[in-house]
Amino acid sequence: MNIQLNARWDATQVLRVENLSKQFEMHHLKRTLFAFENIDFELHEGEFILLKGENGAGKSTLLRTLYRSYLPRGGHIYYHTKEGVIDLAAAADVDIAILRRREIGFVTQFLNARPRVAAEEIVAEPLRFAGTPHAEALAQARRSLAGFGVKRGLWAAYPSMFSGGEQQKVNLARALILPQRLLLLDEPTASLDRDARRALVDRLAELKAAGVAMIGVFHHPEDVVDLIDREIHLKAIKIEDEADHVAE
Ligand SMILES: Nc1ncnc2c1ncn2[C@@H]1O[C@H](COP(=O)(O)OP(=O)(O)OP(=O)(O)O)[C@@H](O)[C@H]1O
Ligand SMILES: [Mg+2]
Repeated sequence: MNIQLNARWDATQVLRVENLSKQFEMHHLKRTLFAFENIDFELHEGEFILLKGENGAGKSTLLRTLYRSYLPRGGHIYYHTKEGVIDLAAAADVDIAILRRREIGFVTQFLNARPRVAAEEIVAEPLRFAGTPHAEALAQARRSLAGFGVKRGLWAAYPSMFSGGEQQKVNLARALILPQRLLLLDEPTASLDRDARRALVDRLAELKAAGVAMIGVFHHPEDVVDLIDREIHLKAIKIEDEADHVAE
């Protein structure tokens, strides 16, 4: 991993984002769409940032860029590992894959339900990857499923047959079973019932207390009001025609 030691770094810092920008080239429309520009923020251990902005303001795009599903157009995403600092904006794909497996989580409302894999096995998988013995991982997975209100009779069933809400609960049970160092959340509660939302908020509070740094968008921000340390407001996008460039 291309890690730099950096004396300016404070030990509790998890992320320092500098001048981050992302744009989409829409070739068929001959336009550039600026998703966001010049974003700066810091995130420390145990901090929770709420991301706000109207539809299309670039919230999901910012989270996907931090997770490096998208490459930014410019700027830096300095991420602090135990060994030192790595710029996620420029890191190799192989390093990103390692970090995603070990310490950076991304939670959406959608479950990647693979055929013929039981709910409890899907939820136990992150623990198995981290070296937890199978029986212990399954026991924890069942506790996690119960916590999100997935009925006992469904634990050994295949989530591809579940309702949308049940799939979301399995997704959350899996995504939050192992405390990550950094957790990115994109509307994880969008169509959950009230009890499941409460279970999620309780789990996020536990993770925050354990030092997990979080940044997320919430469909019901009032749910997480007690967790919020700071807010980032994204403004609506600008669209530029290629003709504008020519005129400059
Ligand atoms: N892969 C892509 N290619 C081109 N444009 C994209 C792409 N992904 C997002 N966009 C555009 O970028 C803008 C920001 O989208 P984004 O999904 O980040 O918004 P959002 O703030 O998450 O909105 P919402 O509240 O509706 O979820 C939108 O105009 C969207 O159409
Ligand atoms: Mg979005």
